[in-house]
Amino acid sequence: MGIESSCDETGVGIVRGTELLAHALSSSMEQHVRFGGVVPEVASRAHLEAMVPTLEQAYAESGVRVQDVDAIAVTSGPGLTGALLVGVAAAKALALAHDKPLYGVNHLAAHVAVDQLEHGRFEERAVALLVSGGHTEILLVDDIVTGITLLGQTIDDAAGEAFDKVARLLGLPYPGGPHIDRVARDGDPTTIAFPRALTGRDLDKHRYDFSFSGLKSAVARHVQHEDRMGRTFEVADIAASFQDSVCDVLTKKAIDACLDHDVKTLIIGGGVAANGRLRQFAEERAAKAGIQIRVPRMGLCTDNGAMVAALGAEVVRRGLPPSSLNLPADSSMPVTHVVAA
Ligand SMILES: Nc1ncnc2c1ncn2[C@@H]1O[C@H](COP(=O)(O)OP(=O)(O)OP(=O)(O)O)[C@@H](O)[C@H]1O
Ligand SMILES: [Mg+2]
Repeated sequence: MGIESSCDETGVGIVRGTELLAHALSSSMEQHVRFGGVVPEVASRAHLEAMVPTLEQAYAESGVRVQDVDAIAVTSGPGLTGALLVGVAAAKALALAHDKPLYGVNHLAAHVAVDQLEHGRFEERAVALLVSGGHTEILLVDDIVTGITLLGQTIDDAAGEAFDKVARLLGLPYPGGPHIDRVARDGDPTTIAFPRALTGRDLDKHRYDFSFSGLKSAVARHVQHEDRMGRTFEVADIAASFQDSVCDVLTKKAIDACLDHDVKTLIIGGGVAANGRLRQFAEERAAKAGIQIRVPRMGLCTDNGAMVAALGAEVVRRGLPPSSLNLPADSSMPVTHVVAA
C-alpha cells in the first residue's frame, strides 16, 4: 500500500507487484484556486480530513484491507513539510497498529516508478524526464531503487511552475497546465519565437539543465507590449508558442541524454507528462532516434498513491530493510535518495 500527501492530493494506492488494485484520490485543489497556488496550511488540513476516507475508498476498490498488505510505503519527501507529515503520521500509525514494515520513499522516484503499473517492469537502463510542478530533471536510471543518477535539472523555475505562471499572465485558471494544453490546440505555435534557454552549442556545462524563468518573462513582455499597443492578443497563439518552447527543449534534451548514454528507453513522469504536445514531440523524436518511449496514462502522471505503492513494491522486492518509525518528513529529499533510513 502506498500513501501520498506531499502537496494537494491525498492518495492511497494498493498494488500487487506491478498490478494496480486501488487508486483512491482526494484533492484539495479547489480550495487553492482563489489563491492561485497551493496554500500549505490549507493543504495540510485537507489531508487530515481526507486521509481516512481515502484509505477506506482504496480498501473498497481493491477488496484488500490494511491487515492484508505486505508493507506500507509513504512519501517521506520532497514536498510541503506540513502536508508530508500527515501522510507520514498516518503510515506510521497503520504500520504500528497492524505490525507492518514501513518504507519512507521518494516522491520523485515514484513519479517515474508508476509507469511500471502501465507498461511492466523496467528491463534495462533508461533515461527519465521528470517534469512536475516543483521539479524538472533528467535522470539516468540503472535501477529505480538503487541506481538513479541526476544528469541535469532546472536552474530556476520548474516546467509545471512555468505553465502555472504563464497561465496566470494569460488570465487562465490555476493550475494552468491543463488550461494551456487545451487553449493551445486552437493556436498557432509559430506565431511568436519565444526563447529556448540553455540550448546553445557552447553550453556543454548545462547540456541537460533547463531554465524557464526567462521564457516566463518573455511571455510577460509580449503580453504587456500588445496591451500598450492597444492590440488584443490571441491567447491561443501565445499559449501554443509558449508550450512549444517548453516541450521542444524538454524533449530535445531528454533525447540527447538517451543518445549520449546509449540508452534505448525514455520514461516521462510527473504532472507535465500529461501534456499533449509534450507527448507528441517525444513520440516523434523518439521514433526518429530509435528510442522507445514510456509515459503513464494521464491519471497516473499527477500526484497519487499508486505511484508510491509502485515504488514501495520495488523496494520490498529488493529486500531492503524497512525505514524506522522515526521516519522524518524530508521536504528537500534529493531524487537520488530513494528510501529513507
Ligand atoms: N496537460 C498539462 N500540460 C502541462 N502541464 C500540466 C498538465 N497537467 C498538469 N500539469 C502541471 O503539472 C503540475 C502538477 O504536477 P504534479 O502533481 O506532478 O506536481 P507537484 O506534485 O505539484 O510537484 P512535485 O512532484 O515536483 O512535488 C502543475 O504545475 C500543472 O500545471
Ligand atoms: Mg508530484
